[in-house]
Amino acid sequence: MNLSFMYKEKPFISNSTMATWMTLSLQDSSSPMMEQLIFFHDHTLLILTTIVALVSYLMGSLFFNTNINRNLLESQTIEMIWTITPAIILFFIAVPSLRLLYLMDEINNPAITLKTVGHQWYWSYEYSDFSSIEFDTYMIPLNEMEDSSFRLLDVDNRIVLPMNTHIRMIVTAADVLHSWTIPSMGVKVDATPGRLNQMGMLINRPGLFYGQCSEICGANHSFMPIVMESVKTNTFISWISHLSEAS
Ligand code: CUA
Repeated sequence: MNLSFMYKEKPFISNSTMATWMTLSLQDSSSPMMEQLIFFHDHTLLILTTIVALVSYLMGSLFFNTNINRNLLESQTIEMIWTITPAIILFFIAVPSLRLLYLMDEINNPAITLKTVGHQWYWSYEYSDFSSIEFDTYMIPLNEMEDSSFRLLDVDNRIVLPMNTHIRMIVTAADVLHSWTIPSMGVKVDATPGRLNQMGMLINRPGLFYGQCSEICGANHSFMPIVMESVKTNTFISWISHLSEAS
């Protein structure tokens, strides 16, 4: 059964989001959560850059300075300043960080649920809201690649999800630890045998979003990618009803 029947021609290529050789920073966001994470990254990086610049300057000027003041053995004032200032700086990193942490944990009344199970070495998916819709996704091997395929990143059956919809993702594993992730959506959840992990997702644009298993899980760890196709709600409904009829 070919599940990607509708979009075999890959109309969203220009809209696909993955890590490439030029990706030095984070991928473009495809969810409000990732937008916030990028903002937090930039915020923290600015603070770090300031600290590194200041400390480097101070160390440099101390290194090249031969002046000694033998009356200056202690200074309560400067010690207060260089103790309290870093504490305040840490506060301005910790508060937005905790805010994001709890925001990511929030599951906001999801409209649909998608369950994934990590196996050595493929992912299987279940659309639990619909009857008997489940399939496996394997990486497309080199000898079966098409011209438009992305090497080591494309799969035979993509997961299709509606955009602008609250989605609950349930993650577990059948054999060893795996980790399910889509970096552009800012989600990464460990797939643990005997345990169900969940997370909330909201996709805010159409496209193809790529991820890879992120927990060393054996010989073919690098070869169990994740491809998500984000579509309009109507398209999703016709896709899922076509699947229901087929099964
Ligand atoms: Cu599955 Cu690494």
